[in-house]
Amino acid sequence: MKNFESRVDELRKKFEGALAGVNDDRALEDLRNEFLSRKRGHLTLFFDDLKALTPEERPVAGKLVNELKIQVQEALTTRQGKLATRVVTPDKADLTLPGEKLPWGAPHPLMLFQEEIENIFLAMGFSIAEGPEIETDYYNFEALNFPPHHPARDSWDTLYLGDDLLLRTHTSPMQIRVMEKFKPPIRIIIPGKVYRREAIDPTHLPMFCQVEGLLVDEGVTLAHLKGTLEHFLKTLLGDKIEIRFRPSFFPFTEPSAEVDISCILCRGKDPACPICGGTGWKELLGAGMVDPQVLKNVNIDPERYSGWAFGLGIERTAMFRYQIADMRIFYENDLRFTRQFSLK
Ligand code: DAH
Repeated sequence: MKNFESRVDELRKKFEGALAGVNDDRALEDLRNEFLSRKRGHLTLFFDDLKALTPEERPVAGKLVNELKIQVQEALTTRQGKLATRVVTPDKADLTLPGEKLPWGAPHPLMLFQEEIENIFLAMGFSIAEGPEIETDYYNFEALNFPPHHPARDSWDTLYLGDDLLLRTHTSPMQIRVMEKFKPPIRIIIPGKVYRREAIDPTHLPMFCQVEGLLVDEGVTLAHLKGTLEHFLKTLLGDKIEIRFRPSFFPFTEPSAEVDISCILCRGKDPACPICGGTGWKELLGAGMVDPQVLKNVNIDPERYSGWAFGLGIERTAMFRYQIADMRIFYENDLRFTRQFSLK
């Protein structure tokens, strides 16, 4: 019997020692099995040993084993509760390591440039609109005063999608859409992609970006157009540039002009200048007073209202500003190029 008592004590000590080292659910479960498993648990085996004792000793010894069993069960339950509330840090994660770096993209330089253009016009009270890249013949040509089969259409090498649908060749059709929807006063710019059937070379792409500008109100004159464009181009490209209006022709403006800016690279002094080719000037945009016929097409009275419009090539202007010789680089998605523009 004495022997039995000391064995129970020994087992208690063994249990307490093992419990102190338990740090997770798995170790706890192993300990529970080691002591309480129905087949091979230490305590189960102890109950079997009771059979070898005398009938007098048996109840006393049975009580000792039972007390230990209850003690073991309670201790395991308490420990389990503590483990559940502990904040577990995954033991394999080294929290001192630097985080995993995701590859960084960059805003596209043309988008950044477009945003600059937008901000200059927003500051002058203009709104911004966008429009469909698939247009009908009516909006791209006819409402803009290009009669069917008119030779002026040939200057816009058009990509047709069917008899009537085409990829817009310029952002000018948005003039019509805007004037159909809103009544004057109108002050708006429309940036967007346009498409032409062009062979790709350093200064031509079949897809490029334009910004259309349109202002319609009472008493609007060419002086307003000139003043606005001068402010816009000087803000965008620097105070030093000069601007020149050259008479031109567009079916939807009368009079029409092509607007050139002085070459910032050679100032007209280098006959081999990669920017201006020695002329000293670089053509940036087309502009003019909205043709009265265009106003009539959208039911705006040309006797009461007048307006001006312009269309600017975004790539062309960005190339001038950043002195980039080849337009294709904008669309090559080389991060070494695109990242340079968002550093400022
Ligand atoms: N849409 C013309 C083009 O793509 C540019 C243009 C010229 C736009 C005169 C205008 C304008 O709004 O008034 O070549």
